[in-house]
Parts: sequence; C-alpha cells; structure tokens
Amino acid sequence: MKMIAPSLLSADFTKLGEEIDRIQRAGADLIHVDVMDGHFVPNITFGPPVVRSIKRVADLPLDVHLMIENPDAYIPAFAEAGSDYITVHSEAGIHLNRTLQLIKECGAHPSVCLNPSSPLSHLEYVLEYVDMVLLMSVNPGFGGQRFIPNVLQKIERLKQTISDKGLNVLVEVDGGVDLGTIGSVARAGADVFVSGSGIFNSRNYAETIRSMKVIIESEGGR
Ligand code: DX5
Ligand code: ZN
Repeated sequence: MKMIAPSLLSADFTKLGEEIDRIQRAGADLIHVDVMDGHFVPNITFGPPVVRSIKRVADLPLDVHLMIENPDAYIPAFAEAGSDYITVHSEAGIHLNRTLQLIKECGAHPSVCLNPSSPLSHLEYVLEYVDMVLLMSVNPGFGGQRFIPNVLQKIERLKQTISDKGLNVLVEVDGGVDLGTIGSVARAGADVFVSGSGIFNSRNYAETIRSMKVIIESEGGR
C-alpha cells in the first residue's frame, strides 16, 4: 500500500484546521509534521502543543519528523501529544538504539531518518527495530527545495536490503517530491511519499494527490 503524506510545513498556518480538513478530503494517507529546533536544522517550526492541536482535528495518523537535537528529551511529549510515527535523524543523537526503544516504549511507531549524505550502513544494526526509514531527498530545514537525484539508488538499495532480511519496514522519501519527481521515486520502490510545496502550492489538492497516485500506480508493482 503506497501512501501520500502531505507536509504541513507548506500549509497556510493561519488556517491549519481547514488545511488538514482539505488534505484529508483530498485523499491523503498520513499527515507529515516537520518539527525543527533551529539547532539540528537552520529553521524553527513548532513543538508538542501544536502537534496536540493537530491531533484534535486530524483523523489520519500523524507522521512526526523530528529535526531536533537531543530527541530523547522530547519524545515522550511528542508521543503524548498524539504522534503515531516518530522519526528521528540518525545524525541527531549518539545512542540511536536507545532512542528508538524510547519511541516504542512511548507507544509510537519508531522510524529513523538519514540525511542525503549519510550512508545506508548507518541503518545496519537498527533496521530490525524500526517500522519505517525516512530517506531525505533534500537537506532538511526548508520546504520547496530541489530533489537530490542520487537518493534514487539509495531507495533501491534499501528496498533490496529490507527484502533480503525479510523485514516489514516502510521506506519514506521526503524533499522535492512533486508531480515531476514522484514517478522516479515510485519506480525506485518508495512506499511513503512526503510532499509539501508539491501539494500545498497546487490549486486543487485532490487533483494533485489523485494524479500522484495515478503516477505511482503506473510505476508501481515493486
Ligand atoms: C524538509 C522537510 C520536508 C519538507 C518537504 O526539511 O522535512 O518535509 O516540508 O517540503 P517539499 O515537499 O516542499 O520539499
Ligand atoms: Zn519532513
């Protein structure tokens, strides 16, 4: 099952409830929430109180992407706020295994993220402990950046490793995914497609998501 996860980073924050309602009615599968602390990435967004408010109005699961230093200090609060998936960067902490255990103990799905320059080998000893791997296809911090093409071979290799190990782990791709790039991301084998500006900057969210799904299906089968 392939999933579209609109990133709220590109939504109109003055109308967040309406925007969530619109993407839900437009056929989204997950809601991607980008948390930035101004340290791990050069931008600041929002914290647990906003996630809690989003949870109050959202029917879809929340896919919370933590771009923060010292994630262990905040994971309980994000889980308590209603995060369904919690993604941490492998680059953000020292004890990744402990961090992933903590996410699980807090009742959320553990997920790990790699920056574009980080090798897949960082996943070798954690793959069996996660429900999802997020591969960044831009350097994190901002919406609307250009897709970095060499992530495509990373997606293919990761999918192969997951299947070789017989694991059930979703591969999510985030950054620069829009109607122009989603076909190649689907062909490489991604399961979850994050798209911020590609959806929120389009006139008709439903039409954009529908077209994305048509492209995914036409490239799919892997
Ligand atoms: C980037 C964020 C992304 C971002 C994607 O740091 O993690 O989720 O919102 O935005 P687009 O789809 O516009 O590249
Ligand atoms: Zn993200």
